[in-house]
Amino acid sequence: MKNFSFSLGLLFLVCACNSLDKKMALNNASVNQDFSEGKEIYNDFCMQCHMANGEGVTKVFPPLAKSDYLMTKTLESIKAIKYGLSGAITVNSIKYNTAMASPGLSDDEVANVMNYITNSWGNENTSLITEEEVSKVER
Ligand code: HEC
Repeated sequence: MKNFSFSLGLLFLVCACNSLDKKMALNNASVNQDFSEGKEIYNDFCMQCHMANGEGVTKVFPPLAKSDYLMTKTLESIKAIKYGLSGAITVNSIKYNTAMASPGLSDDEVANVMNYITNSWGNENTSLITEEEVSKVER
């Protein structure tokens, strides 16, 4: 019995360290990054419009892959994901004037999906967004 609870304790320790590792990886862009959570959110909440490779649909759904909007307007992009977006915008010289409803994500989910999309399909972003930064973004 003693042995059994010892192994349970060990198992718990291993799991705790594992998730700590992931958190540290997210806060430090130079270590191996794991965007699996952001990818899952993307597949569930974004892919139907922005498409599997972030290419979007010209003049209907703007691209995220190599999007100048996403890669230079960080604050606006976070705001769009957090609260939704409507009105005229220009992405890679093409005008869009449609609307995206707020997908209703929590702040850490917004941070995770932002870090995934800004590091996928040729996009590269070394200064990762934190949950705290997202929480400070207001409408
Ligand atoms: C129902 C379709 C739809 C879904 C789902 C959707 N979007 Fe959008 N998204 C749009 C449209 C349409 C626009 C442009 C709105 C406008 O014209 O003002 C946009 C704009 C954007 C922009 C800014 C423009 C750009 O292309 O860089 C970002 C960033 C973005 N979406 C990210 C996301 C993320 C991340 C998700 C999932 C959490 C998501 N979107 C889900 C339709 C969608």
